[in-house]
Amino acid sequence: MEKFYIKGGTTLNGEVKVSTAKNAILPILAGAILCDGVVTLNNCSKYSDVNYMVKILTELGAVCKFQDDVLTINSSVADKFYISDEYTKKVRSSIFMLGPLVARFKQAKVAYPGGCNIGTRPIDLHIKGLQSLNVKIEEKHGYIYCDAKNISSGEVHLDFPSVGATENIIMASVFCKGVTKIYNAAKEPEIEDLQNFINAMGGKVKGAGTSTIEIEGVKKLHSVNYTPIPDRIITGTYLIACAVTGGKVCLTNTNHLHNTALISKLKQSGCKLQLKNDKIIIEVGHKLKSIPKIETLPYPGFPTDLQSQMLTLQTICKGTSVIIENLFETRFKIYTELTKMGANIIIKDRMALINGVKSLYGANVTAPDLRSGAGLVIAGMCAEGYTTINDIYHIDRGYLNIENDFNCLGADIKRIEG
Ligand code: EPZ
Repeated sequence: MEKFYIKGGTTLNGEVKVSTAKNAILPILAGAILCDGVVTLNNCSKYSDVNYMVKILTELGAVCKFQDDVLTINSSVADKFYISDEYTKKVRSSIFMLGPLVARFKQAKVAYPGGCNIGTRPIDLHIKGLQSLNVKIEEKHGYIYCDAKNISSGEVHLDFPSVGATENIIMASVFCKGVTKIYNAAKEPEIEDLQNFINAMGGKVKGAGTSTIEIEGVKKLHSVNYTPIPDRIITGTYLIACAVTGGKVCLTNTNHLHNTALISKLKQSGCKLQLKNDKIIIEVGHKLKSIPKIETLPYPGFPTDLQSQMLTLQTICKGTSVIIENLFETRFKIYTELTKMGANIIIKDRMALINGVKSLYGANVTAPDLRSGAGLVIAGMCAEGYTTINDIYHIDRGYLNIENDFNCLGADIKRIEG
């Protein structure tokens, strides 16, 4: 199994381009099943989660081809509505294959999804949403069976603004005669990107980015050439990395409007930030102040996907910080590993109390999941001495060779066979 071997004590300086968003590409790949022609995705970053979704589309009979970072998907020849657990158990995004399958084939048989082990991650909102569209659903033997021969437009009220459930219901309803409405929809930028993708194929979706989304049914969706949005979580990860190590970094191919919550916190802690078109420049020349309270919330609140990285930053700031994780019940797994590196953290239920220390020291640690793995890379770059990170396959799910980007900025990270 591969590991990272990191020499600490480096600062980050230079420019790096942010790749396209994993959490935009994944629902768009699911939505490609709705197209009766060819979907061409430009700058399609080959995160391992993306590779798994391509395998799922191939299992359904679609023809997928990468030419450098351009992915073409011909799903006009797709003829299956059954997805085994071979790949579904690897990714959360397999759950939002339900919507496109019931829209296209009027039936689906999909094994339960996988994804980061950060909580129970129920799928009740997905199920209830599809049932509101008159889809008959049965769950047995680890599979979800959908009978959608009488699928119809309807009104869905989400008890929680779930990203995946919002995306599933949008895709399930694109061919339903009439108008489907989703209330209390999630407002993430990736949902707006899905709306723009579907509309570029001839769909009629509006309201994404707000809590009410309307989908007017159309007969079919035609071929499209599409470029997904930049990854706001990679942007945030790299900004936090510079805040931790110090230095001056310019990120390109970003959209600072997708990172307003983080930018506000980084300014509060003493970082200098310049926001120019698709560029964000961060400069940190001194020890930062702790942020008294950080609370994760649905977008546009502070993103849960940056919580582990932010927790890492707080371990070496001056003062005390409290982080409250409102979305996932076990998303503090980084705590044990950072403690091995000398961090002073107390965890109680969904709250972390962090007392800043002068510095962290290198240790042998293990990535528990995708985003806490990224947090450990950040910790290793600022720690005194050397850090080994095991199970780095978690990190490759959502970062394209993270070590190359950080090494271009002055870090010293080696990927070694363990
Ligand atoms: C998406 O997951 C992202 N994944 C996650 O990113 C992200 O953390 C999450 O949204 C929140 O922003 C992808 O887009 C592939 P949710 P998703 O449904 O859709 C509860 C990463 O690191 N819930 O918005 O699974 C759930 O338990 C990953 O890139 C239900 O109760 O998230 C959680 O508390 C990790 N019932 C909350 O909603 C349901 O049916 C948010 O979940 C569904 C969700």
